[in-house]
Amino acid sequence: MENCGCITCDAATKELYEKAKNEGIETVWDRARAMQPQCGFGEMGLCCTNCGMGPCRIVKVSKDGPQAGICGATEDTIVARNFARSVAAGAAAHSDHGRDIALALYHVDDKARIKDEEKLFKLADEWGITVEGKDTVQVAKEVAEKALGEFGKVFGNLLFLKRAPEKRIKLWEETGVASEAIDKEIVRVLHSTHMGCDADYRNIIRQAIRAAMTDGWGGSMIGTELSDILFGTPMPKKVEANLGVLKKEYVNIVVHGHEPTLSEAIVVAARDPELVELAKKQGAEGINVAGMCCTGNEIAMRHGIPMAGNFFQQELAIMTGAVEAMIVDVQCIMPSLATITKCYHTKLITTSPKAKIPGATHIEFDEQKSFEIAKRIVKEAVMNFKNRKGEVHIPDEKSEGRIGYSLEAIIKTLDRVTNTHAHPSGTVKPLVDAIKSGVLRGAVAIVGCNNHKQPHDSCHVTLAKELLKRDILVVTTGCGAHACVKAGLMSDDARKYCGKGLATVCELLDIPPVLHMGSCVDISRILVLLSEVAKYIGGDISDLPVAAAAPEWMSEKAQAIGLYAVASGVYVLLGVAPAVTGSENVATYLTKDIESVFGGRFEIESDPVKAAEKIAAHIENKRKRLGI
Ligand code: SF4
Ligand code: FE2
Repeated sequence: MENCGCITCDAATKELYEKAKNEGIETVWDRARAMQPQCGFGEMGLCCTNCGMGPCRIVKVSKDGPQAGICGATEDTIVARNFARSVAAGAAAHSDHGRDIALALYHVDDKARIKDEEKLFKLADEWGITVEGKDTVQVAKEVAEKALGEFGKVFGNLLFLKRAPEKRIKLWEETGVASEAIDKEIVRVLHSTHMGCDADYRNIIRQAIRAAMTDGWGGSMIGTELSDILFGTPMPKKVEANLGVLKKEYVNIVVHGHEPTLSEAIVVAARDPELVELAKKQGAEGINVAGMCCTGNEIAMRHGIPMAGNFFQQELAIMTGAVEAMIVDVQCIMPSLATITKCYHTKLITTSPKAKIPGATHIEFDEQKSFEIAKRIVKEAVMNFKNRKGEVHIPDEKSEGRIGYSLEAIIKTLDRVTNTHAHPSGTVKPLVDAIKSGVLRGAVAIVGCNNHKQPHDSCHVTLAKELLKRDILVVTTGCGAHACVKAGLMSDDARKYCGKGLATVCELLDIPPVLHMGSCVDISRILVLLSEVAKYIGGDISDLPVAAAAPEWMSEKAQAIGLYAVASGVYVLLGVAPAVTGSENVATYLTKDIESVFGGRFEIESDPVKAAEKIAAHIENKRKRLGI
């Protein structure tokens, strides 16, 4: 793909970026430009600050410069240690999110607060919790306790590892990556990468994998499962997306961050008749809640709340001048929001003790008083309506799509075909049949963030379109999901981008060609789907004609996701190179040799068209090996 030099392919983003330039307001793109050239040592992973003798850096351009740290750590050791620490931080973020959801479930004291009782009892059964004679609240408490035990239990492996195909479980055990307790594995990375500990890059990466596995098969999966139990398992619904969902005449509240506990409470509070009445008294027509980043995915999937935008649109939302409050919890929140809100009337409200921002108003969220606190926060927004300054500038741009494809929703959708063909219902058989026959060539998960190193949204969207035309089904989460819904790829009209086979499947199943599977923690849904398909064919995840791509990734969480996907047997294409290029050994291990161990590997390709070609070649290769 020729890079057109644009910062984004999204019209609303372009429009507001121009406004920012005219008003002299600095955005992520301006700060990225000012940062050039970025540190070459950091970019290659060659700077070590793990002890007070450092910082040490390895000079690659000349053999005259230092070739080892002061302690003697080589480039392989330094690069592997830095990578492992990033992975551990990513796994920590996702897992701590899961822990908070488990705590929320633990404190439930009213059956009415459990939205998916069936899923609760199913999980209790999976975890061997006896339910006879116990009421729903008691079962919820025991399930939550078991989930919390996953973080710090003294003995035993992660319970959710058992969801993988048998061959995969055996492989993890043989290769020493079957993770134990979540906190333990993350601590072990920090310990073994401490100065003077592990110097063997392969062993450091093995420990990093153990930590990464506690994300996808641990904390993230706990986050997803327990969120579904508490707030409901997502089912397909229509949603509007992009900054055009903000409404001039309404009190606009943007909820941004990750954990659904806060956003669920805000959604309920914003519908409170007393607060709606108060908004009207302030001159507004009502209260409009919109979601950003993964919080946006969570409440869109469960309530059809409009999706305001992804990571690179958070600053721009404030520049519309129409946002009364931006309410944030944890992860992917730019500290720059506090600076930008100074130029507008928007109140930035932080809610988590883990993420305070100087200049913001802090109203701490407490799950046990959730409604009360949410009402207080919404009231702050309502009372701020009258303080709007100057012109409101909301771009017209918005699209419509169908979202909410949890695993349960996918199975239900597949049942439509099953019922008409006398197949057993509740299985992935129709999906497997479509892949076997070649009508569908395979499936790809497009996930991850935005990154200034790639044009915003453009790589997500181009890659998706390139895959659709090759009859490859796309599933997506996170900021990739926002990009796809904004580009119209979750509408029926998107069938025009599909090859004949995929278009037929979409028509038959009445689905869009890009399936929204949720937030970043919901990649765990994809792991379960892959496991179900692999079990159905009696194979392993690494046998399947599938791949994952994070064309615009930026966060440490994305590195953890990439690594657990590779260890689960998936080919993972990254559009931005991780900081491992300083060590040929580490880079070669992650992009080549690791495949012979786990059946998955990383591929680095920044061009989304070439990325699609590589992914398609990988999928065809897998098909050949399966003899289909
Ligand atoms: Fe330098 Fe070694 Fe200390 Fe790292 S751990 S800063 S390489 S002396
Ligand atoms: Fe996310």
